[in-house]
Amino acid sequence: MKELNIMQATQYTSPNPLTLICTRNEDGSTNVAPICFVSYLSFQPPMIGFAAGKQSHTAARTQTEKKAVITVPGKSLAEKVFACGESSGKDTAKVSEFGIEMKEIPDGGIQIPADTRLAFVCTLEKAEETGDHFFHICSIEKIYGDDTVDGLYAWNGFGKVAPAEEGNL
Ligand SMILES: Cc1cc2nc3c(=O)[nH]c(=O)nc-3n(C[C@H](O)[C@H](O)[C@H](O)COP(=O)(O)O)c2cc1C
Repeated sequence: MKELNIMQATQYTSPNPLTLICTRNEDGSTNVAPICFVSYLSFQPPMIGFAAGKQSHTAARTQTEKKAVITVPGKSLAEKVFACGESSGKDTAKVSEFGIEMKEIPDGGIQIPADTRLAFVCTLEKAEETGDHFFHICSIEKIYGDDTVDGLYAWNGFGKVAPAEEGNL
């Protein structure tokens, strides 16, 4: 075995889970950011966590609103995932700028991309400082899924976004 840094390690765990975290902007619109640092935390009660950079709009909006919807994007969003990862909701209205079609979900209060495989409607319980990120510990209020939608994963660490059957090509 050889010694690796953490970026190299993310290549060894590929494909990594990929989510688009949807948070509510001040004007009621949705901000969308790709986040791979996501994990289930508890079955009973159902809980999930994600880490977002300290400077990110996602961390700020999650901590202000105490709500987020964690979604697994469908494959039509592959290119838009990168556009959303290269810009911040602090100064970019990503949904309108990148032409992301959105839809409502019951109880959400936050719109999500129309092409979504899975959505967790979450309430923030606690945000902990973890190095250069905040780790958000959330309870899951509702889960909605559509297994006809092919979900995206992050490959080569976070360098490529593709469905499971295409990732190794
Ligand atoms: C595939 C991919 C995965 C990413 N995963 C994370 C992550 O797990 N945590 C994080 O803080 N940023 C991650 N990013 C970077 C954020 O999406 C990026 O910083 C974005 O600008 C944050 O947007 P916001 O300021 O609107 O929240 C990822 C980007 C890409 C393209």
